[in-house]
Amino acid sequence: MNPVWIISKKRDGGELTDNEIGEFVDGYVAGEIADYQMSAIAMAIYLRGMTPRETAALTDCMLASGVRLAWDEGCSPLVDKHSTGGIGDKVSLVLAPMLACCDLQVPMISGRGLGATGGTLDKLESIRGFRTDLSLDAMRKVVVSVGCVITGATADLVPADRKLYALRDVTATVPSIPLIAASIMSKKLAEGLDALVLDVKFGSGAFMKTVESARELAQSMVETGRRMGVPATALLTDMNQPLGRLVGNAVEVDESVAALEGNGPPDLMEVTVALGVELLISTGRAETAEKAREQLQKTIDTGAAREKFAKMVAAQGGDLDAPRTVAVGSEVLASRPGFVAAIDAELLGQAVIGMRGGRQQLDDALDHSTGFEMLVRLGDRVDANQPLAHVFADNLFAEEGRERLAAAIQIADERPTVGPLILERVG
Ligand code: URA
Repeated sequence: MNPVWIISKKRDGGELTDNEIGEFVDGYVAGEIADYQMSAIAMAIYLRGMTPRETAALTDCMLASGVRLAWDEGCSPLVDKHSTGGIGDKVSLVLAPMLACCDLQVPMISGRGLGATGGTLDKLESIRGFRTDLSLDAMRKVVVSVGCVITGATADLVPADRKLYALRDVTATVPSIPLIAASIMSKKLAEGLDALVLDVKFGSGAFMKTVESARELAQSMVETGRRMGVPATALLTDMNQPLGRLVGNAVEVDESVAALEGNGPPDLMEVTVALGVELLISTGRAETAEKAREQLQKTIDTGAAREKFAKMVAAQGGDLDAPRTVAVGSEVLASRPGFVAAIDAELLGQAVIGMRGGRQQLDDALDHSTGFEMLVRLGDRVDANQPLAHVFADNLFAEEGRERLAAAIQIADERPTVGPLILERVG
């Protein structure tokens, strides 16, 4: 089939057949369809959208471009959580071992920072010796022996996404709901899952700034999961301020370990447990949300989840007990009295990047010791000169970091209305 006909059909708002989508994706991966033709159809999809059937077909073709993890018959259910990314989002580090203690297996393939949001792999690499480049075989072994793994994607997992994402990045076609849904779902379904939960964030520190766009993405991914036979549910969660108190790399590992020891901040625990409840229910491991919550809490209270995390870290070559350096702290003070009225969480993420805790260029080396601690939350009353945050950075970057934090935290006379952390469930 002539790729030009397929491009023009989508350009004119037509619905592509499964065959047409398959030929395009296969041809692109094989190098028979040129980048400029893929760019053209990506833009046509961006402008015209895709039906749920087309999105599922695209996901299926992308998934088929690489290997899919296979697991033994009769083993414990395989589950995973995907977050669209946020500031201070360390849920994966806490949730994966908790789920593994509930007789679930978690083959979590994670990523690095995207935009202003931090990456799970970057955080884990602040643990001495921790490896995030496991082969599929090594990854499978860790899942079977420990129950959970958190590692990076290998080249043979969804090569179509690797190639297409790089192209979207330079053709202004990243923010397309069907392209995002197919990209995320193909990578998650390659893990060979029995159930998936999605944390779709909205707000100033999220990829999706509005509730409406987050809801649309959640619906598209949940529907794609359903069409592809993998039960998926989603929670829409608020990202108008950091999750937890600590943001950075080493400091987020520290906060995750504290959470596994029963000292997690309430917002982090609320989101972590709610996502875990979804998976315990959808795999039939718990009959009610109440029972699921009890099971998850028990993994913390008994110390089992903390121990599981240490085992996973050791199986991936890391030493959780080795000290993690945190740069010296300095305070950001309130310029006036009032209420914390708004937080530009994206600017907070950029502050961490500025302190070398995230990347400005693809091959930048990170300084895992930098970051900050939020001392206030939206709606808090503050006095003039009250500390709002601690910035952890060497002198060279600390002042710029403090300036960005001060600019990101808005103080006003009126107490703002703060919405719920978990807005709704899509499933
Ligand atoms: N994250 C992904 O994995 N893919 C996208 O397209 C956007 C965000």
